[in-house]
Amino acid sequence: MEKIMSTTKKNIQVFVCDHYRHVCDELTEKILSISKVAIQNKGRFNMALAGGTTPKGVYMRMADKDYQKKFAWHQMHFFWGDERWVHIGDIRNNYRMVAEALLTKVDIPIENIHPITTKEETPEHSAVLYEKELTAHFNLKKGEFPEFDLILLGLGPDAHVASLFPGNSVLKEEKRLAVPVIEKEIEEPRVTLTFPVINHAKHVIFMVTGMDKANALHMVFETKPKEPLPAQMVFPVNGYLTWFVDKPAISKVSINFSDDSEKR
Ligand code: 6PG
Repeated sequence: MEKIMSTTKKNIQVFVCDHYRHVCDELTEKILSISKVAIQNKGRFNMALAGGTTPKGVYMRMADKDYQKKFAWHQMHFFWGDERWVHIGDIRNNYRMVAEALLTKVDIPIENIHPITTKEETPEHSAVLYEKELTAHFNLKKGEFPEFDLILLGLGPDAHVASLFPGNSVLKEEKRLAVPVIEKEIEEPRVTLTFPVINHAKHVIFMVTGMDKANALHMVFETKPKEPLPAQMVFPVNGYLTWFVDKPAISKVSINFSDDSEKR
């Protein structure tokens, strides 16, 4: 298989793969290994899925017959990092994207799937319901945050993560687990996990591919704006931060990612 280059700076690992499919293969393998450790240690694996389009290839790869039989679906629980507050049948809906790519193809119990539902009266109702689901599932006491085994994130062209957009007041949320988001640039309301939840995860992985993300990655890795960009606010307090990128996406970052990884 192609070599991947990686580097470890300040506990951040960056894996640079040749192209999108290669990222999907490597990231699927990483998700499998994290899930195995979690299930071995505590009998279940809790993952928050990214929305948008980039991660669809990973979800499809997880459902491929060679991988499908490797995952312990009955011990896996899927949540969402964010949701577009549109009908489940709407092409923009993140639950719908994951259902098509993965959930309808694998033997995962329905009770292990924890979507942000969008049939409530308002996005706030959806956020409250989601917070209740998180609190019950993780058996949280007041003021506690869930510790996901893995939170998968994409990166917007403006360096937003989940539905945490630059300059939006929700970036400053320190208490709630999930909040509604109204963003002037975005046509539909959103519901998103908050930074305290993201930064309490054991593993946070970014998946960023394509030339259209090159500027965003340059901004994240090589600029220090007065107000940090949302992606620059992701730093697991007791966890690991890993980037899986392809060469086009990293092409405007001048950091030399030493090739210190073994052939895979
Ligand atoms: C969403 C995502 C969002 C996404 C980025 C990148 O619901 O859209 O959670 O944060 O990850 O916008 O989107 P693409 O993968 O489509 O480029």
